[in-house]
Amino acid sequence: MEIKAKANANIALVKYWGKRDEKLNLPAVGSISVTLDQLTTITTVETDESLTEDEIIINGKTPTDKEILRISSFLGKIRSMAHRDEKVRVSSRNNFPTGAGLASSASGFAALALAGTKAYGLDPDPQELSILARKGSGSAARSFFGGFVEMIRGYSEDGIDDFAMQIADENYWDLKALILITSEEKKKVSSTTGMIHTSFTSPYFQAWVDSSDEDIQEAKFAIYEKDFEKLAEISELSCLKMHALALSAKPGLIYWNGSTIDLINEVRRGRANGIPMFFTVDAGPQVKVFTTAAYVEKVKGLFEGHPGITKILTAGIGPDAKILRDED
Ligand code: DP6
Repeated sequence: MEIKAKANANIALVKYWGKRDEKLNLPAVGSISVTLDQLTTITTVETDESLTEDEIIINGKTPTDKEILRISSFLGKIRSMAHRDEKVRVSSRNNFPTGAGLASSASGFAALALAGTKAYGLDPDPQELSILARKGSGSAARSFFGGFVEMIRGYSEDGIDDFAMQIADENYWDLKALILITSEEKKKVSSTTGMIHTSFTSPYFQAWVDSSDEDIQEAKFAIYEKDFEKLAEISELSCLKMHALALSAKPGLIYWNGSTIDLINEVRRGRANGIPMFFTVDAGPQVKVFTTAAYVEKVKGLFEGHPGITKILTAGIGPDAKILRDED
């Protein structure tokens, strides 16, 4: 049977960086994200008894051997949950640039977990889906849920308490994100590699872990209160702390380019001048700017034509991942 699922990308405001267990992919810290509309992955999974191995196509192309291995081993987890062994045909498409710090693995593994479990006849609840997706990619655990989402850092050895849950849905607070693309080159050090390298070599890693709960609490409070200024402060703090950590690895990881810094400064200038806006940056050089719906056009106007920007994507807050039926 062919099953199609759609999941949206998400951007972390309080960042996930580091693993407490690499093999089970358990995050060392909790995180808070917003799910975005507009940036989606649609994935089709079809079981086929005649296949001797999984057939995987991403954005119309066969992925690299490393990517195939990661996806096939994830499919293997679904097969063992379902006690089935036939292979699948997978076709997945993102409507945004892959591998440029835009969390394509988040929407990718969330859509694959949803379509894959259904294709093998399983019907997991959202928490089980989140746990499964986390095994593919930590940030994918958050992409099942629309709106504002918390990924909980668990303590159990098997990761049964490491899952995401919704804080508030997509209609709660009409924020907008502008994604300022400064380069579409594939990043040189993936998030996975970068965070493992950081946790082993940065002298500040434990301080990052120890201070993360406070960041989560502050961000949650800012969301409950719809306090934009507070959310701006805590999001920028978490982002800069994550990059400071990466910079302090041995050798240091620099995900930014010159335009990233220019844009960060522009955002801070704008906010100092009374425009509600803040930045966040992931493991790449793109700058994501959050603002309110009322200011989105004004903020866009500040960046249009900027020499360091190749493209601007605009998104609102997106919904839960879902199975697509023929009528969708
Ligand atoms: C900087 O979820 O891609 O975007 O679990 O190894 O697949 P893996 O890592 P991934 O890391 C995302 C890191 C980040 C911050 C975040 O999204 O929280």
